[in-house]
Amino acid sequence: MKITNKVIIVTGASGGMGQEIGKQLSKKGCKLALFARREEKLKELCKEFKSDITDCIYKKCDVSNEKDVKEAIKFTIEKYGRIDIVFLNAGVLIPNPIENFDGSIIIKTMKINFFGTVYFLENLLPILKKQDKSHIVITSTLPDKRGVPGWGAYGASKAAISWLTESLRWEAKHKYNIRFTTVKPGSVKTPMIEEYERPGSISVDKAATIIIKGVEKNKRIIQFPFMQVMSTRIADLFPASLYDMLDLEQMKGEGFPEVEEKK
Ligand SMILES: NC(=O)c1ccc[n+]([C@@H]2O[C@H](COP(=O)([O-])OP(=O)(O)OC[C@H]3O[C@@H](n4cnc5c(N)ncnc54)[C@H](OP(=O)(O)O)[C@@H]3O)[C@@H](O)[C@H]2O)c1
Repeated sequence: MKITNKVIIVTGASGGMGQEIGKQLSKKGCKLALFARREEKLKELCKEFKSDITDCIYKKCDVSNEKDVKEAIKFTIEKYGRIDIVFLNAGVLIPNPIENFDGSIIIKTMKINFFGTVYFLENLLPILKKQDKSHIVITSTLPDKRGVPGWGAYGASKAAISWLTESLRWEAKHKYNIRFTTVKPGSVKTPMIEEYERPGSISVDKAATIIIKGVEKNKRIIQFPFMQVMSTRIADLFPASLYDMLDLEQMKGEGFPEVEEKK
């Protein structure tokens, strides 16, 4: 499928991979609808992306707020009349160290990363089911099967996304011609991981190019970079006893916060 002249929603479009996906799509010629919380940033980006071949609209949308999500979809339909491709990319990464275990971090992370996706799906599916075809692209993470110290909240939200996407994929394609793709990035140099960067990270423009090419090829799963895919998927096969022998502490990343034990 060539991505030309398509109506495309991007969430988390104000920075990192979402911003770069918007930028690269704008060069192909399409009708973009950008959503995130930082409205001023979206306004600047839309101005940059608009051209003879690309239209761009934007609106403030906190994906953890269902009302915002409903309005974002309504806004897109009112302007463009249909929705062809949706990049559900918005997400947050918040450390939750065991020294100060805090359930509110898990709830906040789930609300944005997981329920933000759920709200979009619940409100998009009735519209997309009536169209001839469409494509939903959801961003999870590469390590979506095994736990990583300090990142339980994030990992749990992404494991839930991978499960949900995979569960919907078959039926959506066969019954409604709606394709589902799960994007599973390893480390990508975006503001999200600035403080925790690990070796082997790839640039944001390379990541966006891989994602867009994968969508054009109708891939079910887009995972990268290659070396991280190999090491992660091999570790997935380890029994728990062998997995626990790995130096998992280093996966927290350099800048992981030092935390005082709760008294
Ligand atoms: N970078 C990596 O190494 C990596 C690896 C695996 C997976 N991922 C995933 O890839 C996706 C993009 O991440 P990134 O690295 O590009 O992160 P980023 O640079 O921090 O960008 C995150 C985007 O999500 C938006 N966002 C955050 N909370 C939101 C909310 N409540 N409602 C709406 N938008 C919200 C942010 O915009 P506002 O602040 O303006 O709302 C921003 O545009 C995320 O799902 C992330 O979990 C990233």
